[in-house]
Amino acid sequence: MFLICACEHNYKPKEDMRYRKIPDETIGRLPLYLRKLQMFCEQNRRYVNSSEFADNLGVNPAVVRRDLSLFGAFGTPGVGYNAKKLLDQLRNILKLKGSQKTALVGVGNLGLALLSYSGFASFGFEIVAVFDSDPKKIGKMKKNIMVEDISGIKTLKKRGIRLAIIAVPASDAQEIADNLIEAGVVGILNFAPSYLTVPNRVRVIRIDIAMDLARLPYYLPATRE
Ligand code: NAI
Repeated sequence: MFLICACEHNYKPKEDMRYRKIPDETIGRLPLYLRKLQMFCEQNRRYVNSSEFADNLGVNPAVVRRDLSLFGAFGTPGVGYNAKKLLDQLRNILKLKGSQKTALVGVGNLGLALLSYSGFASFGFEIVAVFDSDPKKIGKMKKNIMVEDISGIKTLKKRGIRLAIIAVPASDAQEIADNLIEAGVVGILNFAPSYLTVPNRVRVIRIDIAMDLARLPYYLPATRE
């Protein structure tokens, strides 16, 4: 029988978890589960089972159970998962407790779109500093936040900002990344189509919509000429 091993606000990893590598695929699915749990909680659902969880997520219920079991046993057979507890536990695991102060570098077309995107807030992300090198943009308000000169990156550590989004041309991305890291940033979401070289302690996630799109036609049925 599964035991719920963590109380609401004090998630304790399984004893041997420190020695076990959690697959990146599992980590990649946790935000999906988190979003689904937020929905269940908004609907005042107390318990949910893995089938309901998996529904519309494109994930097999067995995969959900296996993913969650890697962090400890959260469910009770026949009852399911306590939605609120699991939500808190997943937030703890993903270190998404509280506000995630984030800097944005590059306030062009993409930067502006990111500033307008409301979806960051549901995971606690808040863009609290934006930088650009264009004198025409510096000092101007964009979506309720003032654009700072790129030299202001130096202040990030003092401001407690450890995460940053890069939305500058590829030619400038590495230099920006270097400056961000020097300023204490340890997590970078890179939209520029360039590979960044960073120290081991820094995590970079690269997003490229064009590359995703480029995979899509491969899966389409062949058309008749
Ligand atoms: P953009 O030209 O509209 O904006 C770039 C902004 O970066 C401008 O405001 C510019 O002044 C600023 N900038 C340039 N060099 C800088 C520096 N050294 N320091 C600070 N600011 C600097 O370009 P757009 O369309 O917003 O694209 C931005 C980046 O995102 C590009 O690398 C582009 O290829 C990439 N991109 C990636 C997508 C993805 O799916 N990953 C989708 C769209 C764009």
